[in-house]
Amino acid sequence: MKKTLALALAVVMSLGLMAGCGNNSTPPANSTPPTNASTSQPGSAAASIPDAPTGGGTVGVCIYKFDDAFMTTYRNALQEILEGKGYKVTVVDGNNDQSKQNEQINTFITQGVDALIINPCMTSAADSIIATVKAAGVPTVLINREPTAEQMSAYDKLVYVGCDAAQSGTFQGELILDTPNKGDINGDGKVSYIMIQGDPENIDAQLRTEYSVKALQDAGMEVEQLDLQRGDWDREKGQTICANDLAQFGDQIEVVFCNNDDMAIGALQSIQSAGRKVNEDIYLVGVDALDAALNEVMNGNMTGTVLNDAVGQATEAVNQMENLLGGATFAAGEQSVYVPYVKVTPDNAKDFVK
Ligand code: BGC
Repeated sequence: MKKTLALALAVVMSLGLMAGCGNNSTPPANSTPPTNASTSQPGSAAASIPDAPTGGGTVGVCIYKFDDAFMTTYRNALQEILEGKGYKVTVVDGNNDQSKQNEQINTFITQGVDALIINPCMTSAADSIIATVKAAGVPTVLINREPTAEQMSAYDKLVYVGCDAAQSGTFQGELILDTPNKGDINGDGKVSYIMIQGDPENIDAQLRTEYSVKALQDAGMEVEQLDLQRGDWDREKGQTICANDLAQFGDQIEVVFCNNDDMAIGALQSIQSAGRKVNEDIYLVGVDALDAALNEVMNGNMTGTVLNDAVGQATEAVNQMENLLGGATFAAGEQSVYVPYVKVTPDNAKDFVK
């Protein structure tokens, strides 16, 4: 089974549609299934899921920093879903400071929370976060910054909910390939681009950077990287990097790849100040489908973006938290649950406005 929707299978099975089909994965009968999520690995995501609870416990939510456009939508969705289910929720701001977040995790543990949902400040802190929650025996859902399967295997009451970052990069490349000249506006036989990267410590930044360009190359396009700089997911940094690059490289720039929409919105300001026109003499793509970006896609000021489904991921994080609270454990190599990305163009952008 590839990318098995193990828990989705549980729904199907509980509906009796697969009774006796001889499938060798044995999803438990009473699980709370994900909506449209898939596990990263073949096989069943949760080894055993007794009755999932229906709310009423306490949940600590650690966000890497509140001042992040995408994570703001995400944390608001988490809070709403959890409170709607009757959980007592506390959401804290790590201010992008791992030592501060470590203290917050310890405080939640001391307070005796029933479960934790953690968006790590630094992916490299995964080992110590996992050791801490394991020692305390607190069921934990990690979100947004994916540790390695090996790191997660240290604790079987831990699951990661996120997206397959490579897919978002591929979609960005495809958005450029879908343009009339496949990104080669000046017809010189190559696509000349700048890459405005998120925090490079984050796997989302690494894989979006790699796979956006790879999609062009896989389609037979020659590429030329004029610049690659870290914009740390930040709008102002996106604006500054793009302004400097436009000053330095001018018309040579045909494509501006941004690892997220907030940086793309910043880049757009610089593109407009430089008198350039998106979709005419330059292309611009982001990821997230923030409302501001969706508007720009509809107005023709961004070539496209990729839906990073904050509400879908929040929903899935809560589903998995409830599975853990119900006693589920996760086998090594089966601890990542992915929500799909969606390519956003002027044709479908309106469908994603919140
Ligand atoms: C989002 C970014 C966000 C980052 C935070 C990424 O998945 O695309 O907008 O800043 O997560 O870690």
